[in-house]
Amino acid sequence: MQRLAETLRILSDGNFHSGEELAQHLEVSRGTVWKQIETVREAGLDVFAVRGRGYRLSQPFELLDREQILAQMDDGSRAQLDQLDIHWSVDSTNGRLMEQAKQGANSGHTVLAELQTNGRGRRGRHWQSPLGGNIYLSQLWRINDGLSSLSGLSLATAVALIRALRKVEAMEAGVKWPNDIVVQGKKLAGILLEISGEPAGPCHVVVGIGINVKLGNSAAQAIDQPWIDIHSLTRRPLARNHLVAQLIMELMRVHRCAEQQKLQPYLQEWRALDSYLGKQVELHAPNGVFTGVVRGIDNFGALQLAHNGQLLRFHSGEVSLRPRPLE
Ligand code: BTN
Repeated sequence: MQRLAETLRILSDGNFHSGEELAQHLEVSRGTVWKQIETVREAGLDVFAVRGRGYRLSQPFELLDREQILAQMDDGSRAQLDQLDIHWSVDSTNGRLMEQAKQGANSGHTVLAELQTNGRGRRGRHWQSPLGGNIYLSQLWRINDGLSSLSGLSLATAVALIRALRKVEAMEAGVKWPNDIVVQGKKLAGILLEISGEPAGPCHVVVGIGINVKLGNSAAQAIDQPWIDIHSLTRRPLARNHLVAQLIMELMRVHRCAEQQKLQPYLQEWRALDSYLGKQVELHAPNGVFTGVVRGIDNFGALQLAHNGQLLRFHSGEVSLRPRPLE
């Protein structure tokens, strides 16, 4: 892994690097360089090889860098951050942080990875997490007064994510209840909250965020819903460390507001971003499948659905668009 990391560090600028240069840097033979390039390809990245010039990535990407992230955060957020871990590869940043929470990790502890071997999605799904510039981030929050203060938290997190995205790239992102980020009706990012502890006492929540920045072909083919990535919207490399710094600061703002029970402004902002308002949908809830028209969220973040003349409220479930029948 160390050698793979070093190879990528060299190639990530998107320029050509000769076999000789790579061999010197990595202190290995040319044959080993070739094998390393194969490993990079197996990890899902396109590498061009041109005789006489060497190797280059089809698409450069900015590697995650702790110092760059910290340098772009304000003093208050840096102080609140506690600890920032950046891994090359973990099974799941959420899984890693849940383990660390059991061993006493503090509120604000944040974990990032370049690659997840077992990324976790909502409702038991797998989150495609290839190498190549996506963002996989988890942050731990400790809460002393029970889960009630968490109401609305997942929706507020979606708003925080959109705020961070907008600071870095101009894009028309919206939300799909409860906390998907969508652009042009396709999923750009997802949020998974994992909670542990006493419902009425001390508990902790790991907020996990996955952003599609550039999905390779094989990962893209494995996704069973419409998706989009930042690269296909902007066609240029993303300033990942800048986005991560903004995201961490926005998440901390949500945490501070949640502690003071002041999440209502986030819910108000969520309403303005609701890309399913007034749409005919199918909702897969724990107690069955319901069709109806989306009537927004209530003050607790529950989805309101007009169904057979009633207004139903849902605290969990999965929404999908339902095409209107032809008239
Ligand atoms: C969803 O299904 O929409 C939620 C996806 C959440 C994925 C992120 S990636 C970072 C963190 N670690 C995980 O294993 N999952 C979350």
